[in-house]
Amino acid sequence: MNLDIIHIIYLFGSVTFILGLKMLSNPKTARNGNILAAAGMVVAILGTIFLHEGEVNLLIYGLIFGAIGLGTVVGWLTAKRVQMTKMPELVSLFNGMGGACAALIGLVEFHHNLDSPTNIAIILAGMVIGSVSFSGSIIAWAKLNGSLKNAIRLPKYNILNTLILIGLFAYSAFIVWSGTHNETHLYGLFTAAILYGILFVIPIGGADMPVVISLLNSFTGLAAAFGGFLYGNQVMLTGGILVGSAGTLLTLVMCEAMNRPLFNVIFGAFGEGEAHQSSGDGSQGTVKEVGPSDLAVQMNYSNKILIVPGYGLAVAQAQHVIKELEQLLEDRGVEVAYAIHPVAGRMPGHMNVLLAESNVDYDKLKEMEDVNPEFSQTDLVLVVGANDVVNPAAKTDPTSPIFGMPILEVENAKHVVVNKRSMNAGYAGIQNELFFRDKTSMLFGDAKKVLTELVSELKALD
Ligand code: TAP
Repeated sequence: MNLDIIHIIYLFGSVTFILGLKMLSNPKTARNGNILAAAGMVVAILGTIFLHEGEVNLLIYGLIFGAIGLGTVVGWLTAKRVQMTKMPELVSLFNGMGGACAALIGLVEFHHNLDSPTNIAIILAGMVIGSVSFSGSIIAWAKLNGSLKNAIRLPKYNILNTLILIGLFAYSAFIVWSGTHNETHLYGLFTAAILYGILFVIPIGGADMPVVISLLNSFTGLAAAFGGFLYGNQVMLTGGILVGSAGTLLTLVMCEAMNRPLFNVIFGAFGEGEAHQSSGDGSQGTVKEVGPSDLAVQMNYSNKILIVPGYGLAVAQAQHVIKELEQLLEDRGVEVAYAIHPVAGRMPGHMNVLLAESNVDYDKLKEMEDVNPEFSQTDLVLVVGANDVVNPAAKTDPTSPIFGMPILEVENAKHVVVNKRSMNAGYAGIQNELFFRDKTSMLFGDAKKVLTELVSELKALD
């Protein structure tokens, strides 16, 4: 009887995960999708605990609920307090914890399954992948929070990493088929996998960490799916496969949007873009400046304005004032929309989430492919704290580290106004020739501050 109920619960949990994931694809339904999937997870966990076959004593229940309580409080508080720009760090840390769980399952379950080579293979696969994900995610987290600043590259790190990877496969196969199931080998393999995770991520530049995190996320999903196989737990299997495939897809989408082949990610020739440093000295010519009052007049007389949000908008927390600006312009009959580059900001969907926070209408967010043909009919483009995603060098300069990355073609608009604080480079560390063009004017200053001034100037025009 319990077994039937638990299968229904697992089916219910799996359905909520799939529906929740689907709902995440639209900001309007994303929050509810998250709640739905989380509710499915709670039901699945409670079902597993209470309908589990065999005796469970009070001490075990105490330990389980103590751990769940502790994890819930720490996770809740951390997620509540984190700033939007620090989200990739948090995702990395949480992902590392998932990898560690998968690795621990392997370490604990190994001895209970010594008579089945298939089970041992499943256990080792989950443990190795989980360990790589754990140590790799911790390195990614340290790089993103600045405690590990540089990409450390051992000599011939590519070859070294590939050899360690082959070694991990060979060692696992040896343990499965040799019948030498002792602790030394188990912990030896665990240590080697932890080491591989570190060496895999440490050469990669901090700039490319979001892609690596997404890849490690897919590893954690795969490791959890192996756990699901081992326990015959369908909901764990479905959850793991969903995380694994969603992480893989996201990795591919990000690679495509940044024009970085996945092969380079895996084999280490990644993050080279960081080595290119900005000249940052304005040596490409002179720039024209515009102040908030002149810009307010220019905007007032425009028919169509496109706003390009970037990382600087998020840092300045200028999402509310940009919404106010949009409203004021629309009240004056100006058509306003936002042009969203797929990797604007520092994580997937960063700009969409940020603008949704200030209730910007989702229909006003235009994706790159849709909006690019519109720039030529646009009177003014206001670029706020974005740099690489509007850099024409991506199309014209084969020596540029971002060459080949699709960009928002703002240079086709009649006028371009760029807001940033200085002439410093963006994420890729390169100068942007757009800033020196005749049709471009620079609006220097912190995004929130200058946009607030711009809003006041527009109001003063009444
Ligand atoms: P960036 O190229 O990093 O440019 C952001 C600009 O914002 C900087 O040049 C900076 O110039 C300016 N800024 C910083 N703080 C500001 C403030 N308070 N007020 C006004 N401006 C400010 O950003 P982007 O154009 O959004 O491009 C994203 C980059 O991140 C791309 O290179 C992309 O490949 C990379 N990346 C993104 C992702 C995802 S998924 N989003 C993942 C991996 C990598 P100043 O210092 O002069 O102010």
